[in-house]
Amino acid sequence: MTQNRTDLSRRTVLIAAPITAVALGAAACGSDDSSGSDGGSTGQTSTGQMLTETSKVPVGGGIVVGDVVVTQAKEGEFAAFSTKCPHQGCAVAPKGDKLDCPCHGSEFNLDGSLVRGPATEPLTPVAVQVRGVDVVRG
Ligand code: FES
Repeated sequence: MTQNRTDLSRRTVLIAAPITAVALGAAACGSDDSSGSDGGSTGQTSTGQMLTETSKVPVGGGIVVGDVVVTQAKEGEFAAFSTKCPHQGCAVAPKGDKLDCPCHGSEFNLDGSLVRGPATEPLTPVAVQVRGVDVVRG
């Protein structure tokens, strides 16, 4: 379940910036298999845990997996954020090419940056990596 940092450092690419599946697949882990997770996992997530398959994240949109929203602003550019709105903590969700908070109307870009308040801060990034065809937390 836990991997040491040096093991992860080569493969872990994303903290706040989007990553490209093509670059990761070619440079680091193109043929890794994933094990132990199903594609529809929800709820708790931890480092290395599969969040979703890359093919399930719409280009120009995102999907919610538990408390994380995984986005793909451009083909192969994946990012993830906590769904917790920085305003008062409601759960944001994809709405078109934005992430929308239903409580008070804050809106965020697919890179987590703030479009419209009342929130005053961006979404909190979640580190993810593409491992083969999977987006995993890490
Ligand atoms: Fe999201 Fe208020 S909790 S806008």
